[in-house]
Amino acid sequence: MKSYIKNLLLFILTVSVFGCSSSRSTSLIREANPTIAIIPKPQFLKVERGMYRIPKNNIISYSGSALVSAELLNTLLLKANLNSKISQNSDRGNFRIVEDFSLIMELGEEGYILDINKEGVTLKAASEAGIFYGIQSLRQLLPSSLEDGSLNSKNILIPKLHIQDSPKYTWRGSMIDVARSYFGIDYLKDHLDRMALYKMNRLHLHLTDDQGWRLELKSKPQLTEIGGNGSVKNGRSGYLSIEDYKKLQTYAKERHIVIIPEIDLPGHTYAALVSYPELNCEDLSNLNPKMASPPELFDGYKVGWSKLCLTNPETYNFVAEVFKEVSELTIGPWIHIGGDEIKDDLYENFIVKADSIVRSFGKTPIGWEEVSKAKVSKDLISQRWNGKTIPHNSSKVIESICTSFYLDHANISGQEHTNNWCKKSGVTLEDIYGFIDKEEEIIGVEAPVWTELVITDAMLDNRLWPRLIAVAEIGWSQSHNDFKEFSTRLKDHKLRLKALNIDFFPSAELD
Ligand code: ACM
Repeated sequence: MKSYIKNLLLFILTVSVFGCSSSRSTSLIREANPTIAIIPKPQFLKVERGMYRIPKNNIISYSGSALVSAELLNTLLLKANLNSKISQNSDRGNFRIVEDFSLIMELGEEGYILDINKEGVTLKAASEAGIFYGIQSLRQLLPSSLEDGSLNSKNILIPKLHIQDSPKYTWRGSMIDVARSYFGIDYLKDHLDRMALYKMNRLHLHLTDDQGWRLELKSKPQLTEIGGNGSVKNGRSGYLSIEDYKKLQTYAKERHIVIIPEIDLPGHTYAALVSYPELNCEDLSNLNPKMASPPELFDGYKVGWSKLCLTNPETYNFVAEVFKEVSELTIGPWIHIGGDEIKDDLYENFIVKADSIVRSFGKTPIGWEEVSKAKVSKDLISQRWNGKTIPHNSSKVIESICTSFYLDHANISGQEHTNNWCKKSGVTLEDIYGFIDKEEEIIGVEAPVWTELVITDAMLDNRLWPRLIAVAEIGWSQSHNDFKEFSTRLKDHKLRLKALNIDFFPSAELD
């Protein structure tokens, strides 16, 4: 009987802690310790009384094949100027990593459990990705001076707690237009590091457009020898060599991020058309209005004036060769075929062919929402951006509706050098956070930055941060309905963004 009452009490306690909504769990955190501000908000979080002091010398123990995860944790501790020894198959560590596939039902591919108590830190997950995300949460519990290597305290305390966490969506993406203004491998690597901190897992590169072609292909060298030299006025030109592209993908993979290359076809193609003029129709009727013609490069802003010559059989050989090589170079399963902003009687026919070509190379195609007008395969993923397309079939959707996710728009109304064609007043942090998911088939969210007006690293940082943090939370957290509560956690990230050398927009919510 006594044990029945004890169990009942335990049950009530458990329900009151874990059965509550996640926003209530988060407020519990804040009451107990104002410095806990994990973003994205964990699904379940319970703060225990007291703190765990991390000793100068630590032991990381791990089970099975979790050496990579143990090394990652070791790297984090080293950044905090803490020593650690890695030990396999023992549970005597004060940091314990348990990678156990049987947790898959409970935690999914990317979930994790993080426990911090008087014995130390235990991280459990079904996969390396789950442990990686648990480490990101732990990282956010450590002082932000960790990020620039200046943390050198002998007294590092972290709160005792229990987290069980897994993402809402599998697709948590950022897109950078490197075609209009070029951003090279150094910027992109930093961006991958920053994305990882917020548990984002897809980097979509808009590699080709009228102004530039940014991926070297052995089969079509002029695309970068000629098309790589262009950019929007005052923007940077350049391209990713095959070696750079491989290195970037490996770097991303180590951070559990997949790179999605976009080759935008059949419109937005002037950089290809100037590189291989034979791809134009003989009368150049595919350039209309003729904003430039070979051999001139194009550095303007206009869209929707160039397209491949869809009546020319050569065009389809070109498309097949390009997608073949891009598929061979790409380690992720997706290739983005573009497909936006073009009118042509043969458009739908082209998209059906492009869909089939990409699938024939073993990849899953993605296209901007217009592609869903065509009778494409059910595998093709549609990326919503203006919400004007009535799809032919239902397909999976990546949500990038411009009113909530276009980060080239102003951070606040009137910001200079920003677009405003989708939303005059800009896309504020609150606009992003207030996004309501309606699509049944949505697999996640992605925030593009188009770069016709974004020409320096500082400008790109300013457009991305801190707004991408709100996107990350929408992609990961089950609920995102309390902007004030989010803003309270966000403030705590200002110093971390500074330590990461990010030229973020000084949003009022950060102060
Ligand atoms: C787009 O903004 N044209 C996808």
